[in-house]
Order: sequence, then structure tokens, then C-alpha cells
Amino acid sequence: MNEKLWGGRFSRSTDKLVEKFNASIDVDKRLYDSDIEGSIAHLKMMAKESIITRDEADTLIAGLGKVKEQIENNEIEFSAGLEDIHMHIEDALGKVAGDVAKKLHTGRSRNDQVALDVRIYLKKETRLIINLLAGFQIALVKMAQKHLDVIMPGYTHLQRAQPVLFSHHLMAYYEMFKRDIERFEDCFKRIDVMPLGAAALAGTTYPLNREFTKDVLSFSKVSDNSIDSVSDRDFVMEFISHASITMIHFSRLSEELILWSSSEFSFITISDSFTTGSSIMPQKKNPDVAELVRGKTGRVVGNLVCILTLMKSLPLAYNKDMQEDKEPLFDTVDTLKICTDVYTRMFENIKIHKDRMVEACKQGFLNATDLADYLVSKGMAFRNAHAVAGQAVAYALNLGKELNDLTLEEFKDLSDLIEKDVYEFITIDKMISRRISYGGTGFDNVKKAVKKAAGELGL
Ligand code: ARG
Repeated sequence: MNEKLWGGRFSRSTDKLVEKFNASIDVDKRLYDSDIEGSIAHLKMMAKESIITRDEADTLIAGLGKVKEQIENNEIEFSAGLEDIHMHIEDALGKVAGDVAKKLHTGRSRNDQVALDVRIYLKKETRLIINLLAGFQIALVKMAQKHLDVIMPGYTHLQRAQPVLFSHHLMAYYEMFKRDIERFEDCFKRIDVMPLGAAALAGTTYPLNREFTKDVLSFSKVSDNSIDSVSDRDFVMEFISHASITMIHFSRLSEELILWSSSEFSFITISDSFTTGSSIMPQKKNPDVAELVRGKTGRVVGNLVCILTLMKSLPLAYNKDMQEDKEPLFDTVDTLKICTDVYTRMFENIKIHKDRMVEACKQGFLNATDLADYLVSKGMAFRNAHAVAGQAVAYALNLGKELNDLTLEEFKDLSDLIEKDVYEFITIDKMISRRISYGGTGFDNVKKAVKKAAGELGL
């Protein structure tokens, strides 16, 4: 007979290479506390329903407490022979509690057990991630509050377009991360479903009280279909896709910070503690944190492709392929957590060069749209006004001037609707304050948006 916990029907022992190949312990050992939590709930339920005696349950629960300590004190040696964390814990329980440990797995399969463990783990991690993201939103809003009226060029196609408030730009990211949090909150509902009791796939012959197990583990509902319970990894796919979107937001912000901290832009300086030097060029100060976050986005998107490809074409119910779900999931959780954490801290250490930002608004005809708006205010149709402003740009460009450098005579040559008040109309300040449409960059709008966000965050 094969020595394994499942070895009854096997006459030969497992090939050593297969043992190594088959094992997931190196990856799933981090589920040990979720696994023990799930087993304790299962034991309590079985005692309540008299599937095992109260004494047996008490012995096994105390034993699991000891096993937990042993794992935390590194007293248990993990080996490929015992495959995964579930078998290691059952084996260790046998050593601590004796033969009665063999009752733990009554009415249960590793298929529903692993689904439960991952859900317990991911509920905790999702909560943590939501809190970390809210922490980053606080950093964004604080920066927006601090630089409420700083003006910078807004870009489209990475070409200077129109002046905007720097705080408005930051609040765009606040909105993005707000949606990210909403997505995680929403996906939490689907993680928060208790699958234990599905057993291998068909349910079990024991009178399990799944509602009770669900309550002990603080889940919101029990899963309704035993086949789905052990086959479903939608919540993993969903979680990693939300994480990918969040990482893409960080990556876009990274790209901006990298540009802004370059000599070409010089809009910001990232503190020495959050940048690194070059081993050959003494003058270098590199925005590594932003670059690494941008780079790590690739890993998370890779994890998404991995889990989607893994699940594609899998017949119901459990297949061993699904053991491969944990690496991309854990890596996603770890990457997202550290990126959010390091970003929040870096943000508090960024200096803004507001003079450079506003200076950059003075070149590149950022007031061309406003010149057109000026003509509209004097009665010209917008399309015609657009054409006149375009001619003004071409004319000024030729002379190496900006629009506000043109003389009134030059303006009048372009349109006799233009008067002296045009100069005031196309100043940077006026351009901002006139953007009064809801959601626009007008001073009052942004002040209100920042205040609302501060309220949402309890600041
Ligand atoms: N280590 C396995 C996994 O992570 C546990 C479930 C194994 N079930 C089985 N029938 N072999 O997926």
C-alpha cells in the first residue's frame, strides 16, 4: 500500500519526481491559519450535529491550536511527500491528538476545503487592500488640499492643451481609485460565500449544518450548488482583474511622476528617500519606485492572463489544474499591497514646483480655445471662432510670439470683434475660473470636489 493519506487503492509508492511536481506546499503553506480556522468551524458543526462527540471535537480543536503554534514556531517540517497544507495539518494533528484526528475529514474533501481556505484568506486580504487604497486616496486628497490653486498645463496626446488645476488632476486619480475600491467591495460579496459541505463535488451523506459553519466563519451565505462550489474560481479571476485595473491606474500615475520629475518637465521632486542613484553616473537621481510600480503592473496583468487561461476549458468540477490558481493570486495580493503602501509613503515625500508648472502654461497656445470662446462671447459662431483662433496661432507662431503678445492691431486684423478686453480674457487665471461646468477645473468646482472627497474619507 502507498503510505499517503489517500494511499489505500495504490499498490506502488509515488515516484519522487511526481511527488515534487504534484506538491503545492511551498505555495499554499500560507493558507495554514485559514485552513485551521475552517477545520475548527467544521469540528464545531460536527459536534453540534452529533456527527462526532463534543469531547472529540474539543480534543481536535485544542490539537489544531497546538499545530498552529508549531507552524508559527517553525516546528513543522514541510515536505513534498505530504503534498499540501491540508495534509500537513491533518498529519500534524494526528501526531498531537492521536487516532481521533482521523475523524477531522468526515464529510469533507480537499476540494471544498481548499475553496473555503482561499475564500477565508481573500476576504481578509480584500479588506486590507481596500483600507490601503483608502490610505492612498487620503494622500492624494491631502496633496490636492495643499496645492489647491496651483495651475499646470493639462495635456491631450501629451501635448499642452489647456491649463488645469494640479489639484483637479490629482482628483482624477481620486476618482479612479474610488472606482477601484467599489470594484473590490463588489467582488467581496462573491468571495464571501461559504463552500464547505460540497465535499468532493456532490455534497455528502452526513447531516452537515452548513448554515452553522457559515455563521461560525462569519460568511454571508452558503453556496447553493455543490458542483459550482468546488469548481468556481470566478472570485479569483474577478479579484485579479480588479487588481490589474488598480495597478494600471498606479502605472499611469507612475508614468506621469516619471515625466514630471525629469529635467524636461521639472514639475516635481521626489524625495531622496524614495529615489535611487546610479552606480556610474554620479548626478543621477532615478524615480525607481514609480518605475518599479509601472513594471510590476506587468506581473499582475500577467497573473490575470494566467488565471484566465488556467480556467478556460476546464470541465466541471475540480481539476488539479486549479492548484495553479494560488501563485498568481498570492503574487497579485502581495504586489498590490506593497505598491499601494510604498506609493502612499512616496506621495507624502513629493515636492511640487508650482512656478515651473504655471510657467509651462505660458507657452504652447494653451489659451487658443479661450480666444475662440472670446469670439463666441462677441457673437461669432464657434466653428468660425475656432478658425480665427487657428489663424491667430499660425500668425503668432510665425513671429515666435504667444497669443497674448499680439498687439490689438494684429488682433483686429484677424477679427474686428476683438477689443482690449481680450488680454484679460485669455489670462491663465481667467481661463481656470471660467471653467464652471460641473466637474470642470474651475476653482470653485475643484474646491468643492476636494471637500467632498475629504468628507468621504473622514478627513
Ligand atoms: N492542493 C490542492 C489545490 O490546491 C488541494 C485540493 C486537492 N484536491 C484533490 N482532489 N487532489 O487545489
